[in-house]
Amino acid sequence: MKILGIESSCDETAAAVVEDGRKVLSNIIATSLEEHKLYGGVVPEIASRRHAEAISGVVKEALEQADCTMDDIDAIAVTYAPGLIGALLVGVNFAKGLALATDTPLVPVHHIRGHIASNYISSDLEPPFLCLIVSGGHSHIVAVHSYTEFEIIGRTRDDAAGEALDKAGRTMGLEYPGGVSIDKLSPQGNEDAYKFPKPKVSASPYDFSFSGLKTAVINTVHNAQQKGETICTADLAASFQKSVVECLITNLEKAAIDKGFNKIVIAGGVSANSKLRARAKSLCKKRGWDLYIPELKYCGDNAAMIASQGYYEFLSGTAADESLNAYATMPIDKNYKTI
Ligand code: KG4
Ligand code: ZN
Repeated sequence: MKILGIESSCDETAAAVVEDGRKVLSNIIATSLEEHKLYGGVVPEIASRRHAEAISGVVKEALEQADCTMDDIDAIAVTYAPGLIGALLVGVNFAKGLALATDTPLVPVHHIRGHIASNYISSDLEPPFLCLIVSGGHSHIVAVHSYTEFEIIGRTRDDAAGEALDKAGRTMGLEYPGGVSIDKLSPQGNEDAYKFPKPKVSASPYDFSFSGLKTAVINTVHNAQQKGETICTADLAASFQKSVVECLITNLEKAAIDKGFNKIVIAGGVSANSKLRARAKSLCKKRGWDLYIPELKYCGDNAAMIASQGYYEFLSGTAADESLNAYATMPIDKNYKTI
């Protein structure tokens, strides 16, 4: 079964064709990232305009590279939530039009479920497992009971890990996205140079809080500026990255032990982070757990992951008609049919 995936929730316009949920036949991504760098973050209006310009060309290329026409496509999977509403609407409306015009089933896919599915591509991973999802907008620990059943075990109380890395990077004067810049710079720094407070969320041992850590970095930079002191940015970046990764790993370890999981999965844009990948590997080696991490090219936003999850959603009976809407927020554990 061949699924055409379409993704437009942030600044990547993406389309892909995936066979039987696992075999990627094409994976095309156009990004407006360079333009957003000028503003230090994604400008939603610019992202929406670029999606509208790029989407038909990107979908056409995905079909061509997969050596397919719409006659070969069994369903169109599209990201409908969560994300920037104007950006999501471009993908959803394009998918609806294409589905109607070609009489192809339409399958709505939750963006974060898609990130988890990036691990199904080129691997033998099957649920159940415990997943740490870390992206620009989300930091969750989720028990994945089946391809379409999700239970939130932990979540961030304030900023997402990627958001905190991006904001800290901006304060340090690094290029957007800060998470990527911090990852690149950190090997040149001493990760024990700065000590940051360990955030504690009393309500749940699995929940995260990154806003205090982010404020601590911002204060460190501002205090130094006021005193006319210079800061070693590489030391600060490495120390901050270490603190963020330790928070993620500590809660992941606790959740896996308490909930009885020995199959661990990492997903989302921040799963590209070299420190997080290394710490997840050392944790799973120590505990004897199986670890799955997406290939680097599937860590960031892409449509192959949407097509992969779309395959499993379609098999479970999820389909939408022309009334499908986009949503800026949507819990991962809510199935489309129950909205
Ligand atoms: O999943 P994603 O592409 O978009 C969302 O769904 O949010 O994640 C983007 C986030 C950004 O915050 C970016 O800084 C972060 O992923 N990111 C990284 C790395 N690559 C991307 N953070 C740390 N290290 C990286 N190598
Ligand atoms: Zn994403």
